[in-house]
Amino acid sequence: MSAQILDGKAIAADLREQIKARVADRVAAEQRPPGLIVVLVGDNPASQVYVRNKQNACQQVGFQSELMQLPASTGQTELLALIDQLNAREDVDGILVQLPLPKQIDEDTVTERISPIKDVDGFHPYNIGRLVLRQPLLRPCTPKGVMTMLARTGIDLTGKDAVIIGQSNIVGRPMFLELLMARCTVTVCHSKTKDLADKARKADILVAAVGVPRLIQGDWIKPGAIVIDVGMNRLENGKLCGDVDTAGAAEVAAWITPVPGGVGPMTVATLLENTLLAADLASGTEN
Ligand code: GUN
Repeated sequence: MSAQILDGKAIAADLREQIKARVADRVAAEQRPPGLIVVLVGDNPASQVYVRNKQNACQQVGFQSELMQLPASTGQTELLALIDQLNAREDVDGILVQLPLPKQIDEDTVTERISPIKDVDGFHPYNIGRLVLRQPLLRPCTPKGVMTMLARTGIDLTGKDAVIIGQSNIVGRPMFLELLMARCTVTVCHSKTKDLADKARKADILVAAVGVPRLIQGDWIKPGAIVIDVGMNRLENGKLCGDVDTAGAAEVAAWITPVPGGVGPMTVATLLENTLLAADLASGTEN
């Protein structure tokens, strides 16, 4: 078998077109375009790339977006004061503070300071709590983007065995909640999990989000599985690779996401969706 490719780049481009049309509708109805502020503290090279991608995507769909770059020496009090100002600004629908933050700043404190209705990352305890209770509002972008990709396979997820490798707050945990809400039977694996390969082999849907280059080999994949690779690892030769040995896994799986061009573009497109939703909620025009 040779897997079909779940083309995140193409699906994200479709989403951006839909969002662009809805922005045009807002503007035609004399509402302002959605506004996103991205805050980057310090000079982490990977964060700089991610932030640039987010800014470019905002431009493509007609959002107002602004990048606020702060030095690595920024104190927590200063960052919290900036968030307070942004929470109060009526032209700002979404606030995204790029993680990781320098070590003198506590990420949880910062995440909680962002107004839940402007939390387009979906990381605030309010938004995570709503997802737990099956009343989602702003949902973490990567897991929500993965659900959009899974929908594109046309496969009914009900009752499927899903296995997630990775338990982070950004991906593993909200991915568990999304797949549970879609009525999968979900197993979350982490660094202390026993017999990891055996657990992976039981997965109809396998989501890899561990950050270990090509950890997941072809013989870990159940024939006909959907394999979602959230990993984005830079090898010593400068090339990017995921957490899955894509060539090996594609021999066995029915569907697989490439790296790059899979989950990454979906995370950015979903951020746009969330920002549009936040803007519509703020102006009372959500549908
Ligand atoms: N760092 C890595 N991924 C993300 C993300 O989705 N949002 C933010 N704010 N920071 C990140």
